[in-house]
Amino acid sequence: MAKTLEEVIAEIKSKLDIVQVVSEEVILKKNGGRYWGLCPFHKEKTPSFSVNPQLGIYKCFGCGAGGDALSFIMKTKNIEFMDLIKDLAQRFNIEMPASFHKDENSKDLKNEMMSACEKAAVFYHDLLINHHSEEIKMATDYLTDRSISREIIDRFTLGIAPKAYTTLYDILKKDFSNEVLEKAGLILPSKEGHGYIDRFRGRIIIPIQNEKGEYVAFGARALLKEQSPKYLNSSDSLIYNKSKLLYGLYTAKDSIKDEDGVILMEGYFDVISAQAHGIENAVAACGTALTSEHIKLLSRYTKSRRIYLSFDTDSAGQKATSRGATIIKEAFEGLGDIKQFDESYISTSDDKYSCEIRVIAPPEGKDPDEFIRTVGADSFKKIIQTAPLLLDFQVNNFLKHKKEYKTPQEKTKYLKDFLPVLMEIHNEIIRTEYVKMVADALNIDEKALEAEIRKLAYNNSFEQNSQNEIKKIVTKSVSISEKAQKNLLSVFLVSDSHFTFAQINEMIDNSYFSNETLINVKSTIDKLICSVNNVKELIEQLYTAYIENPDVQLVITDLISIAETFTNLSPEDFQSVIEENIRRIQRCRWEEEKEKIRNLYKNADEDDTEALKIQMQLRDKINNRIKSEKIND
Ligand code: CTP
Ligand code: MN
Repeated sequence: MAKTLEEVIAEIKSKLDIVQVVSEEVILKKNGGRYWGLCPFHKEKTPSFSVNPQLGIYKCFGCGAGGDALSFIMKTKNIEFMDLIKDLAQRFNIEMPASFHKDENSKDLKNEMMSACEKAAVFYHDLLINHHSEEIKMATDYLTDRSISREIIDRFTLGIAPKAYTTLYDILKKDFSNEVLEKAGLILPSKEGHGYIDRFRGRIIIPIQNEKGEYVAFGARALLKEQSPKYLNSSDSLIYNKSKLLYGLYTAKDSIKDEDGVILMEGYFDVISAQAHGIENAVAACGTALTSEHIKLLSRYTKSRRIYLSFDTDSAGQKATSRGATIIKEAFEGLGDIKQFDESYISTSDDKYSCEIRVIAPPEGKDPDEFIRTVGADSFKKIIQTAPLLLDFQVNNFLKHKKEYKTPQEKTKYLKDFLPVLMEIHNEIIRTEYVKMVADALNIDEKALEAEIRKLAYNNSFEQNSQNEIKKIVTKSVSISEKAQKNLLSVFLVSDSHFTFAQINEMIDNSYFSNETLINVKSTIDKLICSVNNVKELIEQLYTAYIENPDVQLVITDLISIAETFTNLSPEDFQSVIEENIRRIQRCRWEEEKEKIRNLYKNADEDDTEALKIQMQLRDKINNRIKSEKIND
């Protein structure tokens, strides 16, 4: 039998795990019964964003954002309620009510685009392996040269896009509209202004899959040396967001979980080589800079958040390493210290650190791909096993060049960039050790170096504090009455109140509410408590009732947190909470009345005599002034 929309929504909600849903956007750490992380809705450096898995809700104590799993997805993905429901119904294989089958244009478009990408990938691949031409031979030779076997070609669906203008278009236009093909980034309008041409031509094709394995984009490497650019990549589209997708993740997922670590590389071929040679937990950004979104993505698969940076060993790669490290640190900021010390060499996966960054920088070979091909995958695996922590890598790197700096001026200049590294070591014992090592190596005074670090730390914290001052969130001042009304309404949401909903409702009269939103919520509660069995259900239904009204959802979240402060009360105390708040509301109401009456008197008084008096005085003053000015003339 077809379900009602309410039933579909309830079923979807029962299948969503709030912790999992939020983890897609926020790195969460468990503390007590809750999870904490940095709020995705405002900028902050210490976590004030919490997830309560028992109630299925999230709440930020900084900016007040809050809601349930559905509203979280709506807000972070910027998607309409009904679109989300349709999406999720499809994902969970729940049939939508009959009236919702039409109007799925945007969904269809995305599906069509992905289908076109998949067809294109298969087509390019088939060309490479099953057809013959001079070009195809060149591509095969090129790949063989790079030690890319037929097996690897199949595994990564590598292909070739011929130089001709419409090879792909001629095939795909039979099944897809121009709009779909253009939006998918497969074709471009021709420069002459009529017709379309293939976007990728004369290139090795590297299809890109999203996390679910759907084909969404392409990287395309030039076949010839003189061809520019070396890599042509799909642009962002409805189905492809570069800053949220990592090449190879779909095939690396399981291994990242098993190894509890991920290796970040720079290029497509680095990942291909690594994965093809048994280093399965390797991924790369697709021709774009690493973002904190990428890091968030990864943190869902590695519990201890261990990330190996395996970039090129040239100076560009070195820069990428330090940039990458900065991005990672930023993504995990506020979640604790980054691991800076190896207790046992291979760390056990625990939640002690915010993250663990290690650097893979083999002395031989330029990039992982070349290293694996020339030196071997086994050697690479050994290097992974002994990869130093970021701190050790940085210190080591710094000291490698020490001979280049001899004079005090040179040493000072040299140290300037390195001081922040030392400053970041929070453990005194470890820092002292490193300071000693660096001071010895540079032949400078240890005390002076320590003093420089302190100075820098002091300046930094000063800067940060003043920034925090500025950012302080101004919370709205809520009138006493409104607060009391919220308290009163929140008692419905206390999970262990000893009273039934009906009993509570009897203690609370509708007339205590004057705030419009609260009146509205109260009447919804009145309706819901006839059918729900417990507080959790009531909360769920409330969120659903206001799913398209985020302002009210915020109020509900607020009520839930107030309710939490009323748990563990005896029945008597619970009743006194209600009575006390009723008293407060009544007192406020009386005060308001008195104030109104006072104002009336005051206004009347002013009208009759006061205002007139002031007016007369003012006119006298003006007259006097005009007179005195005339005399002075
Ligand atoms: N890249 C890009 N556009 C370019 C050059 C590079 O998008 N013009 C991206 C690609 O994702 C590439 C990565 O940066 O995989 C690394 O660049 P590079 O080190 O130059 O690529 P390699 O894989 O080493 O290139 P090659 O094919 O020459 O081995
Ligand atoms: Mn490279």
